[in-house]
Amino acid sequence: MEDVTDPAFRMLCKRFGADRVYTEFVNADALVRDVPSTMRKLRIRDEERPVAIQIYGRDAASMADAARIVEQARPDILDINFGCPVKKVAGKGAGAGLLRDVPRMLEITRAVVDAVKTPVTVKTRLGWDQQSLYLEDGTPFIVDLAERLQDCGITELAIHGRTRAQMYRDEADWTLIGAVKNNPRMRIPIIGNGDVTTPERAKECFDRYGVDAIMIGRATFGCPWLFAEMKEYLSNQSNLSNLIPRTMAEKVAVLKEHVDAAILWVGDERKGIVHSRRHFAASPVFKGLADFRQTRIALLRAETREEVFRIMDDILDRWG
Ligand SMILES: Cc1cc2nc3c(=O)[nH]c(=O)nc-3n(C[C@H](O)[C@H](O)[C@H](O)COP(=O)(O)O)c2cc1C
Repeated sequence: MEDVTDPAFRMLCKRFGADRVYTEFVNADALVRDVPSTMRKLRIRDEERPVAIQIYGRDAASMADAARIVEQARPDILDINFGCPVKKVAGKGAGAGLLRDVPRMLEITRAVVDAVKTPVTVKTRLGWDQQSLYLEDGTPFIVDLAERLQDCGITELAIHGRTRAQMYRDEADWTLIGAVKNNPRMRIPIIGNGDVTTPERAKECFDRYGVDAIMIGRATFGCPWLFAEMKEYLSNQSNLSNLIPRTMAEKVAVLKEHVDAAILWVGDERKGIVHSRRHFAASPVFKGLADFRQTRIALLRAETREEVFRIMDDILDRWG
C-alpha cells in the first residue's frame, strides 16, 4: 500500500506472521526512467521473503521493461496492479482504469509474463462500476476476466471485492470473489481482499468463500500484530501466540518500535514520524479512549521522537 508498506512496516507484519508482504505500488514509467525515489521502492531484504513487488502502468512495452528492472531486485513475486481507483492512476488508464479496457489489460499481463521468469500475479477489482458487473449473458465480469488473466500465465489472482466506482465505499462484496473461486475452470489460487478486519471475519471468508488466501490492508494500520491474532484464531497451535501484544503497554511498545524503524528507513526523524502518523491515527490501541481528543491531536502533531514517546507514555499513565 502506497506510503504504508515500506520495509520497516513490512518487517513488523512479517514478524507477526504475515505469510507474504507486498511493496507499495511502483510506477513502471518512473522505473524505466530510473527515478531514484521510485528505484528505492525496489529495495527488499531476504528476511521479508516471500515478498512481492507490485508495479502499475498503462503501456505494455514499458510494463515489460519495468518488469525486467524489477526482476533484478529478485522479488519472489511480481504483482501487477489493476485495482488502484484513484484519479491520477485509474483516470490515466492504469490501475483500475484497465477494467475499462480488458484487451489492453490482457496485453500488458502477457507482456509482463513473457518478460520475466519470476512468477507474475495480478491484483484487481470486481469491475469498473455497478453497471459493468455482469456480462450480457449474465456471467459476472470478474469470473470471465479471471479466466482470461489465468490464460495469460499468471500464477495467482487477488480480488478486492469492490468496483472502481466504489473506491473504498460500501462493503466489499465477497460473493463475486467466491464465484471466481468456485468456477471449476479456475486452477490458480484466488486471494480475497476487502474489509477483513477481525480474526472472526478472516475465518468466515475462508469458510464461506473457499478462497486460498486472504489479503489484509487497512486493518493492519497501527496493528501489525493482527496477523498473529488471526493465525491464533484460525489454528489451535499457533506458534505466534506468545508474540501477540495483549496489554496496552505491549501494544504501545510495538508502535514505538515502528516509529524507530520508520525513522531509520526514511533517514530523517521528522519525516519518519510524519510517515508513522497514519498508523497512530488508525491504531485500535487508541480507539474509544474517553476524553482522548486533545491527546490525539498532540500525538498527531508531535514532530520529534522524544515528544511522540512522551505522549505515548502519558497515554499509558492515564488510560493504560
Ligand atoms: C492508503 C492506501 C494505499 C493503498 N495502496 C495500494 C497499493 O499500492 N497497491 C494495491 O494493490 N492496493 C493498495 N491499496 C488497496 C488495498 O491493498 C486493499 O485492496 C483495500 O484497502 C481493501 O482492503 P482492506 O479492506 O483490507 O483495506 C491501498 C489502500 C490504502 C487505504
